Amino acid sequence: MNSFVLTCNPAADHTAPYGAEQSAVLAAEQMRAAAVEIRGWPGYRPTALVSLPGLAAALGIAALHYKDEGTRFGLGSFKPLGGAYAVFRAVAGKIAEWSGKAPSSRELLDGASRDLVRKITVCAATDGNHGRSVAWGARTFGCRCVIYITESVTPAREQAIAAYGAEVVRNPGSYDDAVRAVAARAGREGWLLIPDTSDGAVVDAPRDVMAGYTLMAEEAIAQLPDAEPPTHLFLQAGVGGMAAAVCAKFWQTFASRRPFTICVEPRQCACWYHSLVAGHPLAVTGEIDSVMAGLACGEVSLLAWSILRTGADAAMTVEDPLALAAMRLLAKAPHGDRPLVGGESGVAGLAGLLAVAGDQQARASIGLDHGSRVLLFGTEGDTDAENYNRLVGRSGAEVRQSAAVFDGESR
Ligand SMILES: Cc1ncc(COP(=O)(O)O)c(C=O)c1O
Repeated sequence: MNSFVLTCNPAADHTAPYGAEQSAVLAAEQMRAAAVEIRGWPGYRPTALVSLPGLAAALGIAALHYKDEGTRFGLGSFKPLGGAYAVFRAVAGKIAEWSGKAPSSRELLDGASRDLVRKITVCAATDGNHGRSVAWGARTFGCRCVIYITESVTPAREQAIAAYGAEVVRNPGSYDDAVRAVAARAGREGWLLIPDTSDGAVVDAPRDVMAGYTLMAEEAIAQLPDAEPPTHLFLQAGVGGMAAAVCAKFWQTFASRRPFTICVEPRQCACWYHSLVAGHPLAVTGEIDSVMAGLACGEVSLLAWSILRTGADAAMTVEDPLALAAMRLLAKAPHGDRPLVGGESGVAGLAGLLAVAGDQQARASIGLDHGSRVLLFGTEGDTDAENYNRLVGRSGAEVRQSAAVFDGESR
Protein backbone atom coordinates (compact mmCIF):
# COMPACT_ATOMS: atom_id res chain seq x y z
CA MET A 1 0.00 0.00 0.00
CA ASN A 2 1.29 3.48 -0.87
CA SER A 3 2.05 5.57 2.19
CA PHE A 4 0.22 8.55 0.69
CA VAL A 5 -2.16 9.63 -2.07
CA LEU A 6 -2.21 13.18 -3.42
CA THR A 7 -4.55 14.89 -5.83
CA CYS A 8 -5.05 18.48 -6.93
CA ASN A 9 -8.50 19.95 -6.23
CA PRO A 10 -10.31 20.25 -9.57
CA ALA A 11 -12.38 23.18 -8.22
CA ALA A 12 -9.40 25.15 -6.79
CA ASP A 13 -9.50 28.81 -7.72
CA HIS A 14 -6.19 30.25 -6.62
CA THR A 15 -6.53 33.66 -8.23
CA ALA A 16 -10.08 34.42 -7.00
CA PRO A 17 -10.28 37.15 -4.33
CA TYR A 18 -11.48 36.43 -0.80
CA GLY A 19 -14.98 37.39 -1.87
CA ALA A 20 -18.56 37.58 -0.70
CA GLU A 21 -19.01 33.80 -0.57
CA GLN A 22 -16.03 33.40 1.76
CA SER A 23 -16.84 36.50 3.85
CA ALA A 24 -20.36 35.18 4.40
CA VAL A 25 -18.74 32.27 6.23
CA LEU A 26 -15.91 34.11 7.95
CA ALA A 27 -15.63 37.87 7.59
CA ALA A 28 -12.48 39.86 8.34
CA GLU A 29 -14.39 41.65 11.11
CA GLN A 30 -15.22 38.33 12.81
CA MET A 31 -11.56 37.32 12.67
CA ARG A 32 -10.55 40.68 14.19
CA ALA A 33 -13.19 40.50 16.94
CA ALA A 34 -12.00 37.02 17.97
CA ALA A 35 -8.38 38.18 18.07
CA VAL A 36 -9.23 41.17 20.26
CA GLU A 37 -11.12 39.05 22.82
CA ILE A 38 -8.64 36.18 22.99
CA ARG A 39 -5.62 38.48 23.32
CA GLY A 40 -7.21 39.81 26.53
CA TRP A 41 -7.49 36.40 28.23
CA PRO A 42 -5.16 35.60 31.12
CA GLY A 43 -2.19 33.55 29.96
CA TYR A 44 -2.44 34.69 26.32
CA ARG A 45 0.89 34.63 24.54
CA PRO A 46 1.59 33.99 20.85
CA THR A 47 3.00 30.48 20.44
CA ALA A 48 6.47 30.11 18.95
CA LEU A 49 7.11 29.88 15.23
CA VAL A 50 10.11 27.58 15.04
CA SER A 51 12.42 27.57 12.04
CA LEU A 52 13.72 24.12 10.98
CA PRO A 53 16.50 24.91 8.49
CA GLY A 54 18.21 21.51 8.84
CA LEU A 55 15.07 19.56 7.98
CA ALA A 56 14.27 22.02 5.18
CA ALA A 57 17.67 21.34 3.58
CA ALA A 58 17.21 17.59 4.00
CA LEU A 59 13.83 17.81 2.24
CA GLY A 60 15.17 19.96 -0.59
CA ILE A 61 13.15 23.10 0.17
CA ALA A 62 14.29 26.64 1.05
CA ALA A 63 12.60 27.07 4.44
CA LEU A 64 10.38 25.23 6.89
CA HIS A 65 8.51 26.88 9.76
CA TYR A 66 6.53 25.05 12.44
CA LYS A 67 3.98 26.92 14.56
CA ASP A 68 4.20 25.06 17.87
CA GLU A 69 0.73 25.04 19.44
CA GLY A 70 1.76 22.66 22.22
CA THR A 71 1.98 25.55 24.67
CA ARG A 72 -1.34 27.29 23.88
CA PHE A 73 -2.97 28.37 27.20
CA GLY A 74 -1.39 25.33 28.90
CA LEU A 75 -3.85 22.99 27.14
CA GLY A 76 -1.40 21.35 24.80
CA SER A 77 -3.18 22.21 21.56
CA PHE A 78 -4.50 25.07 19.42
CA LYS A 79 -8.07 24.17 20.36
CA PRO A 80 -8.77 26.72 23.13
CA LEU A 81 -8.59 29.43 20.47
CA GLY A 82 -11.77 28.00 18.96
CA GLY A 83 -13.80 26.06 21.53
CA ALA A 84 -13.28 28.46 24.43
CA TYR A 85 -13.93 31.50 22.21
CA ALA A 86 -17.19 29.91 21.04
CA VAL A 87 -18.13 29.27 24.70
CA PHE A 88 -17.53 32.94 25.44
CA ARG A 89 -19.65 34.03 22.47
CA ALA A 90 -22.51 31.65 23.36
CA VAL A 91 -22.51 32.72 27.02
CA ALA A 92 -22.35 36.43 26.11
CA GLY A 93 -25.23 35.91 23.66
CA LYS A 94 -27.39 34.23 26.32
CA ILE A 95 -26.66 37.00 28.84
CA ALA A 96 -27.62 39.57 26.19
CA GLU A 97 -30.89 37.69 25.65
CA TRP A 98 -31.64 37.85 29.39
CA SER A 99 -30.26 41.27 30.30
CA GLY A 100 -30.18 43.21 27.03
CA LYS A 101 -26.40 43.67 27.00
CA ALA A 102 -23.65 41.34 25.81
CA PRO A 103 -20.65 41.37 28.15
CA SER A 104 -17.05 41.32 26.87
CA SER A 105 -14.88 38.40 27.91
CA ARG A 106 -12.99 40.79 30.22
CA GLU A 107 -16.26 41.65 31.98
CA LEU A 108 -17.14 37.96 32.34
CA LEU A 109 -13.66 37.21 33.67
CA ASP A 110 -14.15 40.01 36.21
CA GLY A 111 -17.33 38.28 37.43
CA ALA A 112 -20.00 40.34 35.64
CA SER A 113 -23.39 38.53 35.52
CA ARG A 114 -21.94 35.68 37.59
CA ASP A 115 -25.34 34.44 38.83
CA LEU A 116 -26.75 34.37 35.32
CA VAL A 117 -23.68 32.63 33.88
CA ARG A 118 -24.00 29.84 36.49
CA LYS A 119 -27.42 28.97 35.09
CA ILE A 120 -25.91 28.22 31.66
CA THR A 121 -24.77 24.76 30.54
CA VAL A 122 -22.60 24.42 27.47
CA CYS A 123 -22.01 21.04 25.81
CA ALA A 124 -20.04 19.49 22.96
CA ALA A 125 -18.97 16.23 21.38
CA THR A 126 -15.29 15.51 21.09
CA ASP A 127 -12.59 13.03 20.29
CA GLY A 128 -10.40 14.82 22.79
CA ASN A 129 -9.05 18.30 22.20
CA HIS A 130 -12.25 20.21 21.37
CA GLY A 131 -13.91 18.92 24.56
CA ARG A 132 -10.93 19.96 26.63
CA SER A 133 -11.11 23.42 25.15
CA VAL A 134 -14.87 23.80 25.72
CA ALA A 135 -14.49 22.52 29.30
CA TRP A 136 -11.65 24.97 29.89
CA GLY A 137 -13.74 27.81 28.42
CA ALA A 138 -16.69 26.88 30.66
CA ARG A 139 -14.49 26.91 33.73
CA THR A 140 -12.84 30.16 32.67
CA PHE A 141 -16.17 31.94 32.19
CA GLY A 142 -18.03 30.20 35.05
CA CYS A 143 -20.77 28.07 33.43
CA ARG A 144 -21.60 24.34 33.62
CA CYS A 145 -20.29 21.93 30.97
CA VAL A 146 -21.19 18.46 29.67
CA ILE A 147 -18.88 16.75 27.15
CA TYR A 148 -19.73 13.66 25.06
CA ILE A 149 -16.70 11.57 24.16
CA THR A 150 -16.36 8.69 21.71
CA GLU A 151 -15.56 5.09 22.59
CA SER A 152 -11.99 5.45 21.40
CA VAL A 153 -11.00 8.46 23.55
CA THR A 154 -8.21 7.33 25.89
CA PRO A 155 -8.74 7.51 29.69
CA ALA A 156 -5.97 10.13 29.87
CA ARG A 157 -7.83 12.41 27.44
CA GLU A 158 -11.09 11.79 29.34
CA GLN A 159 -9.45 12.75 32.63
CA ALA A 160 -7.98 15.88 31.08
CA ILE A 161 -11.53 17.04 30.21
CA ALA A 162 -12.97 16.10 33.62
CA ALA A 163 -10.12 17.99 35.29
CA TYR A 164 -11.77 21.24 34.17
CA GLY A 165 -14.95 20.30 36.05
CA ALA A 166 -16.95 19.05 33.05
CA GLU A 167 -19.33 16.10 33.29
CA VAL A 168 -18.08 13.54 30.75
CA VAL A 169 -20.43 11.09 28.96
CA ARG A 170 -18.91 8.20 26.96
CA ASN A 171 -21.10 7.66 23.87
CA PRO A 172 -21.01 4.44 21.82
CA GLY A 173 -20.01 4.76 18.16
CA SER A 174 -17.99 7.28 16.19
CA TYR A 175 -17.29 11.00 16.53
CA ASP A 176 -20.16 11.72 14.17
CA ASP A 177 -22.51 9.62 16.40
CA ALA A 178 -21.39 11.63 19.45
CA VAL A 179 -22.06 14.89 17.57
CA ARG A 180 -25.64 13.78 16.91
CA ALA A 181 -26.23 12.42 20.45
CA VAL A 182 -25.12 15.59 22.21
CA ALA A 183 -27.12 17.79 19.82
CA ALA A 184 -30.28 15.82 20.66
CA ARG A 185 -29.60 16.10 24.42
CA ALA A 186 -28.90 19.84 24.14
CA GLY A 187 -32.25 20.30 22.42
CA ARG A 188 -34.07 18.44 25.22
CA GLU A 189 -32.26 20.17 28.10
CA GLY A 190 -31.97 23.69 26.73
CA TRP A 191 -28.16 23.59 26.82
CA LEU A 192 -25.94 25.67 24.55
CA LEU A 193 -24.34 23.39 21.99
CA ILE A 194 -20.77 24.25 21.00
CA PRO A 195 -19.97 22.08 17.98
CA ASP A 196 -16.73 22.55 16.05
CA THR A 197 -18.47 21.29 12.93
CA SER A 198 -21.50 22.48 11.00
CA ASP A 199 -24.18 20.41 9.30
CA GLY A 200 -25.58 23.59 7.79
CA ALA A 201 -28.26 23.98 10.49
CA VAL A 202 -26.00 25.10 13.37
CA VAL A 203 -23.58 27.78 12.21
CA ASP A 204 -22.89 30.32 14.96
CA ALA A 205 -20.68 28.23 17.25
CA PRO A 206 -18.68 26.53 14.46
CA ARG A 207 -18.14 29.94 12.86
CA ASP A 208 -16.89 31.32 16.19
CA VAL A 209 -14.62 28.29 16.56
CA MET A 210 -13.11 29.03 13.14
CA ALA A 211 -12.85 32.76 13.87
CA GLY A 212 -10.83 31.93 17.01
CA TYR A 213 -8.50 29.61 15.08
CA THR A 214 -7.61 32.41 12.66
CA LEU A 215 -5.59 34.08 15.42
CA MET A 216 -3.05 31.26 15.10
CA ALA A 217 -2.60 32.13 11.42
CA GLU A 218 -2.47 35.86 12.17
CA GLU A 219 0.33 35.28 14.68
CA ALA A 220 2.24 33.16 12.18
CA ILE A 221 1.96 35.82 9.49
CA ALA A 222 3.40 38.41 11.88
CA GLN A 223 6.21 36.02 12.90
CA LEU A 224 7.31 34.94 9.42
CA PRO A 225 10.63 36.43 8.30
CA ASP A 226 10.08 39.62 6.23
CA ALA A 227 6.30 38.99 6.48
CA GLU A 228 6.72 37.06 3.20
CA PRO A 229 3.91 34.53 2.68
CA PRO A 230 4.99 30.90 2.60
CA THR A 231 4.65 29.13 -0.73
CA HIS A 232 2.95 26.04 0.74
CA LEU A 233 0.71 25.16 3.69
CA PHE A 234 0.20 21.51 4.63
CA LEU A 235 -2.87 21.61 6.88
CA GLN A 236 -4.24 18.60 8.73
CA ALA A 237 -8.01 18.25 8.56
CA GLY A 238 -10.58 16.56 10.73
CA VAL A 239 -13.90 18.29 10.13
CA GLY A 240 -11.85 20.99 8.38
CA GLY A 241 -12.43 23.97 10.69
CA MET A 242 -8.73 24.49 11.35
CA ALA A 243 -7.66 24.14 7.72
CA ALA A 244 -10.48 26.43 6.57
CA ALA A 245 -9.67 29.08 9.17
CA VAL A 246 -5.97 29.13 8.28
CA CYS A 247 -6.71 29.08 4.55
CA ALA A 248 -9.20 31.94 5.02
CA LYS A 249 -6.74 34.11 6.94
CA PHE A 250 -3.98 33.65 4.35
CA TRP A 251 -6.44 34.17 1.49
CA GLN A 252 -7.87 37.32 3.03
CA THR A 253 -4.36 38.67 3.79
CA PHE A 254 -2.43 37.75 0.64
CA ALA A 255 -5.15 37.29 -2.03
CA SER A 256 -3.61 35.54 -5.06
CA ARG A 257 -0.14 35.56 -3.38
CA ARG A 258 -1.53 33.15 -0.83
CA PRO A 259 0.23 29.81 -0.35
CA PHE A 260 -0.63 26.63 -2.21
CA THR A 261 -2.79 24.87 0.36
CA ILE A 262 -2.85 21.11 0.83
CA CYS A 263 -5.35 19.35 3.16
CA VAL A 264 -3.82 16.30 4.85
CA GLU A 265 -5.86 13.50 6.40
CA PRO A 266 -5.43 9.93 7.67
CA ARG A 267 -6.29 7.50 4.87
CA GLN A 268 -9.06 5.80 6.90
CA CYS A 269 -11.08 8.98 7.47
CA ALA A 270 -10.33 11.09 4.41
CA CYS A 271 -13.68 12.86 4.09
CA TRP A 272 -11.98 15.97 2.69
CA TYR A 273 -10.01 14.07 0.10
CA HIS A 274 -13.08 12.22 -1.15
CA SER A 275 -15.33 15.29 -1.00
CA LEU A 276 -12.89 17.49 -2.95
CA VAL A 277 -12.42 14.78 -5.57
CA ALA A 278 -16.22 14.33 -5.89
CA GLY A 279 -16.91 18.08 -5.91
CA HIS A 280 -19.46 17.81 -3.10
CA PRO A 281 -19.43 16.78 0.58
CA LEU A 282 -19.15 13.01 0.95
CA ALA A 283 -19.28 11.13 4.26
CA VAL A 284 -16.77 8.39 4.98
CA THR A 285 -18.23 5.49 6.95
CA GLY A 286 -16.96 2.25 8.43
CA GLU A 287 -13.79 1.84 10.50
CA ILE A 288 -12.41 5.37 10.66
CA ASP A 289 -10.04 4.98 13.59
CA SER A 290 -6.58 6.47 13.27
CA VAL A 291 -3.66 7.12 15.60
CA MET A 292 -4.34 10.74 14.58
CA ALA A 293 -7.43 10.74 16.84
CA GLY A 294 -8.26 14.42 16.37
CA LEU A 295 -8.56 13.87 12.62
CA ALA A 296 -10.78 10.78 12.81
CA CYS A 297 -13.92 12.43 11.43
CA GLY A 298 -16.07 11.04 8.67
CA GLU A 299 -17.97 14.19 7.70
CA VAL A 300 -16.75 17.62 6.62
CA SER A 301 -18.03 20.77 8.31
CA LEU A 302 -20.22 22.56 5.76
CA LEU A 303 -18.89 25.96 6.88
CA ALA A 304 -15.35 24.79 6.27
CA TRP A 305 -16.48 23.34 2.94
CA SER A 306 -17.57 26.79 1.75
CA ILE A 307 -13.97 28.00 2.18
CA LEU A 308 -11.97 24.94 1.17
CA ARG A 309 -14.15 23.92 -1.78
CA THR A 310 -12.17 26.39 -3.91
CA GLY A 311 -9.57 27.50 -1.35
CA ALA A 312 -7.80 24.14 -0.99
CA ASP A 313 -5.43 23.56 -3.89
CA ALA A 314 -4.83 19.88 -3.17
CA ALA A 315 -5.79 17.07 -0.82
CA MET A 316 -3.77 14.11 0.37
CA THR A 317 -4.09 11.13 2.65
CA VAL A 318 -1.34 9.64 4.79
CA GLU A 319 -0.97 6.33 6.60
CA ASP A 320 -0.62 6.23 10.40
CA PRO A 321 3.07 5.14 10.36
CA LEU A 322 3.95 8.39 8.56
CA ALA A 323 2.56 10.38 11.50
CA LEU A 324 4.61 8.30 13.93
CA ALA A 325 7.73 8.90 11.83
CA ALA A 326 7.00 12.63 11.88
CA MET A 327 6.60 12.64 15.69
CA ARG A 328 9.93 10.84 16.12
CA LEU A 329 11.69 13.05 13.59
CA LEU A 330 10.62 16.23 15.43
CA ALA A 331 11.64 14.79 18.80
CA LYS A 332 15.03 13.56 17.59
CA ALA A 333 15.81 16.52 15.34
CA PRO A 334 18.59 14.67 13.49
CA HIS A 335 19.32 17.62 11.18
CA GLY A 336 20.47 19.97 13.94
CA ASP A 337 17.16 21.79 14.44
CA ARG A 338 15.39 22.58 17.71
CA PRO A 339 13.71 19.38 19.04
CA LEU A 340 9.92 19.65 19.17
CA VAL A 341 7.08 17.79 20.86
CA GLY A 342 4.48 17.09 18.17
CA GLY A 343 1.41 14.98 18.99
CA GLU A 344 -0.30 12.42 16.75
CA SER A 345 -2.78 14.76 15.04
CA GLY A 346 -0.51 17.78 15.28
CA VAL A 347 2.15 16.36 12.98
CA ALA A 348 -0.12 15.22 10.14
CA GLY A 349 0.86 18.24 8.04
CA LEU A 350 4.53 17.33 8.47
CA ALA A 351 3.73 13.71 7.60
CA GLY A 352 2.21 14.99 4.36
CA LEU A 353 5.25 17.13 3.59
CA LEU A 354 7.65 14.23 4.27
CA ALA A 355 5.70 12.02 1.88
CA VAL A 356 5.54 14.56 -0.93
CA ALA A 357 9.13 15.76 -0.53
CA GLY A 358 10.43 12.26 -1.25
CA ASP A 359 8.46 11.78 -4.45
CA GLN A 360 9.51 13.67 -7.61
CA GLN A 361 6.15 13.34 -9.31
CA ALA A 362 4.25 14.57 -6.25
CA ARG A 363 6.70 17.46 -5.81
CA ALA A 364 6.17 18.52 -9.39
CA SER A 365 2.39 18.29 -9.12
CA ILE A 366 2.25 20.87 -6.32
CA GLY A 367 5.28 22.94 -7.38
CA LEU A 368 7.39 21.99 -4.36
CA ASP A 369 11.05 22.76 -5.15
CA HIS A 370 14.30 24.19 -3.81
CA GLY A 371 12.75 27.65 -3.56
CA SER A 372 9.68 26.57 -1.54
CA ARG A 373 8.97 27.99 1.91
CA VAL A 374 6.63 25.66 3.81
CA LEU A 375 4.60 26.54 6.88
CA LEU A 376 3.16 23.86 9.17
CA PHE A 377 0.84 24.20 12.13
CA GLY A 378 1.90 21.79 14.87
CA THR A 379 -1.59 21.79 16.33
CA GLU A 380 -0.85 19.67 19.40
CA GLY A 381 1.97 18.67 21.70
CA ASP A 382 1.83 15.61 23.96
CA THR A 383 -1.88 16.04 24.80
CA ASP A 384 -1.84 12.36 25.78
CA ALA A 385 1.53 12.16 27.52
CA GLU A 386 1.47 8.38 28.03
CA ASN A 387 0.66 7.67 24.41
CA TYR A 388 3.32 10.13 23.27
CA ASN A 389 5.93 8.37 25.39
CA ARG A 390 4.90 4.97 24.04
CA LEU A 391 4.90 6.09 20.40
CA VAL A 392 8.08 8.17 20.43
CA GLY A 393 10.13 6.22 22.97
CA ARG A 394 10.85 9.42 24.93
CA SER A 395 8.62 11.54 27.14
CA GLY A 396 7.51 15.02 26.12
CA ALA A 397 9.38 16.32 29.18
CA GLU A 398 12.63 14.78 27.93
CA VAL A 399 12.17 16.32 24.49
CA ARG A 400 11.42 19.73 26.03
CA GLN A 401 14.59 19.31 28.11
CA SER A 402 16.65 18.77 24.93
CA ALA A 403 14.93 21.80 23.40
CA ALA A 404 15.99 23.88 26.42
CA VAL A 405 19.59 22.69 25.98
CA PHE A 406 19.39 23.57 22.26
CA ASP A 407 18.08 27.07 23.14
CA GLY A 408 20.91 27.53 25.65
CA GLU A 409 23.54 26.51 23.11
CA SER A 410 22.17 28.69 20.31
CA ARG A 411 21.95 31.78 22.50
C1 LIG B 1 -4.50 18.41 17.27
C2 LIG B 1 -5.53 18.62 16.24
N1 LIG B 1 -5.15 19.08 15.04
C3 LIG B 1 -6.04 19.30 14.05
C4 LIG B 1 -7.37 19.04 14.25
C5 LIG B 1 -8.30 19.23 13.09
O1 LIG B 1 -9.17 20.27 13.29
P1 LIG B 1 -10.57 20.26 12.50
O2 LIG B 1 -11.41 19.17 13.09
O3 LIG B 1 -11.09 21.62 12.72
O4 LIG B 1 -10.24 19.96 11.08
C6 LIG B 1 -7.82 18.56 15.49
C7 LIG B 1 -9.24 18.32 15.74
O5 LIG B 1 -9.64 17.88 16.78
C8 LIG B 1 -6.87 18.34 16.51
O6 LIG B 1 -7.23 17.89 17.71
